[in-house]
Amino acid sequence: MIYLDNAATTRPHPDVVAAMEKTLTVAFGNPSSAHGLGMEAYRLVEEARKRIALTLGVERQELIFTSGGTEANNLALLGTAQNAPPKRRRILTLAIEHDSVLQPLAHLERHGFAVEMIPLHPDGRFRPEGLRALLTPDVFLVSMGLVNNEVGTWQDVETAGQILQEVEPKPLFHIDAIQAWGKVSLRPAFRYGDLVSLSGHKIHGPKGVGVLWKRPGVVLTPLLFGGGQEAGLRSGTENVPGILGLGKAAELLTEVESRDEDLLARKMILWEETQKHLGDRAAVNGPSPEEGAPHILNISVAGMGGSVLVEALSQKGVLLSTGSACSTRHMQSGRVHRALGLPPERGASALRLSLSRDTAVEDLKEAARILGETVRELGPIMRRRR
Ligand SMILES: Cc1ncc(COP(=O)(O)O)c(C=O)c1O
Repeated sequence: MIYLDNAATTRPHPDVVAAMEKTLTVAFGNPSSAHGLGMEAYRLVEEARKRIALTLGVERQELIFTSGGTEANNLALLGTAQNAPPKRRRILTLAIEHDSVLQPLAHLERHGFAVEMIPLHPDGRFRPEGLRALLTPDVFLVSMGLVNNEVGTWQDVETAGQILQEVEPKPLFHIDAIQAWGKVSLRPAFRYGDLVSLSGHKIHGPKGVGVLWKRPGVVLTPLLFGGGQEAGLRSGTENVPGILGLGKAAELLTEVESRDEDLLARKMILWEETQKHLGDRAAVNGPSPEEGAPHILNISVAGMGGSVLVEALSQKGVLLSTGSACSTRHMQSGRVHRALGLPPERGASALRLSLSRDTAVEDLKEAARILGETVRELGPIMRRRR
């Protein structure tokens, strides 16, 4: 099997699995229990929080554990919007954001907020002059992904953050850094953002656990009420195995100066090999391979249906996807491509190949060879269908 769907999820690291197993077998107490087993679980959770905070360069009391990236995004957006003054009900975002950002914003729109899209360059980067033109004191919140999950656009959140400082009162700045963690530096996100969302399963950690960083002073109303865990901001018995797995996964990440250059070098090999086998039938969607995030390559193969190719490749052991994992099953793929102004056939024939630090160069070469072979095999069938 050649696994090239790391933007959907990554294989948990063996040390992550071991850390989780301990809390499922031995240290299984409830962190809220007053006895020894509970106190041990509490200690483990707080130790993981401390470790994650240390790797991120933030304070541990600024972290809120959630059930994943989706909840972190929902909590950031819905939890702050509830406190928006009546005269500040505009929200700015990008049309290429993940559904876990766009859907809560659509919900807010149904409840009296105006949600507007910041204009984009064809590669998905926001246009600074477009942001400036939309920015007035009635904007309460701006939400932007640091790395786009489908085409890998890497946003300059530093410039965005500086532009937001030009208006008074400054809008809150939420940054979805879920696809960025471990791949590009998060420093600008914590410097300029007010809320930053992260998820465990994109960094070789477990699924169903995430974390929201909140700058001190940002007022957040919880979405879940109950036992008052996470300083009252996220009630519910802590996902102790998940949190420990997340802590271990964060600890195993190597510090990225700007972007993981080693990963980028491997992505460039994948692109060169793909061109070798497909020639100019393959076109890149979104940023050029050398400019985007180091782990995502989104291409379209002329005359081919993306889902047909994904299925054929899966049968040969090459696993990738047409787009966002959560939207492909619901046949919504192509939204991001449309937002970039690409013709519908580019979205319909899109393939997302995504790498991780575990991806071997030989596998990338082999995947490109199999891709070329599969396109040649399917070509006559696709032509007959049309
Ligand atoms: C950019 C982005 N935001 C949010 C999410 C949702 O995170 P989770 O799967 O942890 O709910 C994902 C995962 O697909 C993502 O790629």
